[in-house]
Amino acid sequence: MRVGFVGWRGMVGSVLLERMRAERDFDHLDPVFFSTSRAGGASPDVGKPAGPLRDANDPAAFAGLDAIVTCQGGDWTNAMHPKLRASGWRGHWIDAASALRMKDDAVIILDPVNRPVIDDAFARGTKDWIGGNCTVSLMMMGLAGLLERDLVEWMTCMTYQAASGAGAQNMRELLQQMGEAHLAAKPLLATPDSSILEIDREVAGILRDDRFPTEHFGVPLAGSLIPWIDKDLGGGMSREEWKGGAETNKILGRGNSVRQDAEAPGAGATHAPPPSRAGRGIHDGKPPIPVESICVRIGAMRCHSQAITMRLREDLPIAEIETLIAGAHEWVRLVPNTRDESIRHLTPAAVTGKLEIPVGRVRKLAMGGHYVGAFTVGDQLLWGAAEPLRRMLRILLAH
Ligand code: HSE
Repeated sequence: MRVGFVGWRGMVGSVLLERMRAERDFDHLDPVFFSTSRAGGASPDVGKPAGPLRDANDPAAFAGLDAIVTCQGGDWTNAMHPKLRASGWRGHWIDAASALRMKDDAVIILDPVNRPVIDDAFARGTKDWIGGNCTVSLMMMGLAGLLERDLVEWMTCMTYQAASGAGAQNMRELLQQMGEAHLAAKPLLATPDSSILEIDREVAGILRDDRFPTEHFGVPLAGSLIPWIDKDLGGGMSREEWKGGAETNKILGRGNSVRQDAEAPGAGATHAPPPSRAGRGIHDGKPPIPVESICVRIGAMRCHSQAITMRLREDLPIAEIETLIAGAHEWVRLVPNTRDESIRHLTPAAVTGKLEIPVGRVRKLAMGGHYVGAFTVGDQLLWGAAEPLRRMLRILLAH
């Protein structure tokens, strides 16, 4: 299989290549690397010759490839996907960007959760395979055991999203902000009997100072949080919040008889994906599960967390709920709901750089036996972005 890689130098692309080297994926395919700016330059070292970089803006340069994996971003996808398809290129398009995600003939790939959907779509000739929104993918990896059995009647998914989801420059800016906040407090911190309120005044002063570095976030994130992610869709909902309902239901194949405009969802129609021509979902034709969120950026580096409140269709004992969550796939880890286990194992600091998806704080809520709370954490560059892409290549190789 000849596979073209686009956007491999960026953050998600770099994590993808790292994972592919670690899993020896390149032993099974012939890679060709593309660049939008450095055609003719050297390809990255993946343990086998890949030739010089090809021009990512030249449709002819993709001729003969069996698959393209792109982490280049939505603008490139929007420019090149129609051109390549119009030119008659019929290879597999594997994409990290959201541009094609809600198209009728695209499948959102998260194989530990929707492998049957992927296989069904493959058999029907689907060629566009798109990674899901990171928070949605991580939430679904955590709750797969309950979602697959159709136990969730509705849920809220309150997110705590890391700087990496906004981009590499934002991660750098978060650290600059942390540094500035520390500098403002440093002389007072060095004096053991200085007043904490004085320290706080200094920090508040620098957070609100015009010179505080906010070029990328627009506002302080260090020492604060940002309760809005992605575009404002109107009606009080952010695009990130809309994705929670739309993508969860598309991945499950629910509500796919209800039409929805992916660019401008109207109030009251926020949970249904467009009808799919790509393949049957796990829960095809069932009504959409309402998923509501408030998506919040916090000062973590690359792990997103989700606090879940859900109503289950059955009043199951907590031990059974835990067994279902823990047994869904090999990456989910049930964290016992104790203080010690939670603060050690259910945090961005503990999970960063790892494939495991811990789920904890599982307990029945005061609203009644059907109501369950949970908390889950995941690395948004791994299961939230790169991992489903490389696994899709393996699935194509296996077919
Ligand atoms: N939209 C996500 C975020 C990142 O801003 O955290 C990628 O899905």
